[in-house]
Amino acid sequence: MCNLEILARVKMEVQKLLANYGAGHGFDHIERVVSSALKIQTEAGGDPFVIELSALLHDVGDAKFHDGVERSGEISRQVLSEFSVASEIIDHVVHVVENLSFRKRHAAESLSLEGRVVQDADRLDALGAIGIIRTIEFGEAMGQPFYVPGDPEAKSGLGHFYEKLFKLRGLMNTEPGKRMAGEREDFMRAFIRQFESEVNL
Ligand code: ADP
Ligand code: NI
Repeated sequence: MCNLEILARVKMEVQKLLANYGAGHGFDHIERVVSSALKIQTEAGGDPFVIELSALLHDVGDAKFHDGVERSGEISRQVLSEFSVASEIIDHVVHVVENLSFRKRHAAESLSLEGRVVQDADRLDALGAIGIIRTIEFGEAMGQPFYVPGDPEAKSGLGHFYEKLFKLRGLMNTEPGKRMAGEREDFMRAFIRQFESEVNL
């Protein structure tokens, strides 16, 4: 099987596995991460095959959908071993998938260039217009308000911008990632300024 065919088959498999994840964390997120990762790759380098496979598989066993246990690495290995993927490539992709997430960033083993590219692409999807929408959707799903009048300390979507999203720009690994994160953060800050002026926060 050639690389293009492997990518097409893995994509179909991931689409099936994520069918019930819903917007924000469904296959739409995966498609955006693949596309940003390949865009970053043109400038930052790295093996495009490993990058695309890792981007496709990075959330395939997300803990939120597996009783709090992160299973993306093990599911990625299962999926890839069904196709004729070389074992070094499987090991590389599994390593990327297992060390990507924000939550694991302190424990994470250092990522390869390919891993750093995919990590930037995943982080970009939490920023900009799409980042605003995903924060609101996450809040809806968790019953968390976007803001709580008179209580800036309350857990809220707005609080999440400050606690996590505005830190991402400084964590980007690659030059194109930093640049794109900067543009997206500027847009979010303009949104928040407008929002805060409307609700008099
Ligand atoms: P991923 O695994 O794709 O990196 P997460 O699962 O951490 O992303 O989060 C999915 C989306 O929900 C992101 O856009 C993120 O910013 C948003 N999100 C995560 N935690 C919160 C929270 N506590 N409040 C609001 N939005 C959140
Ligand atoms: Ni993701």
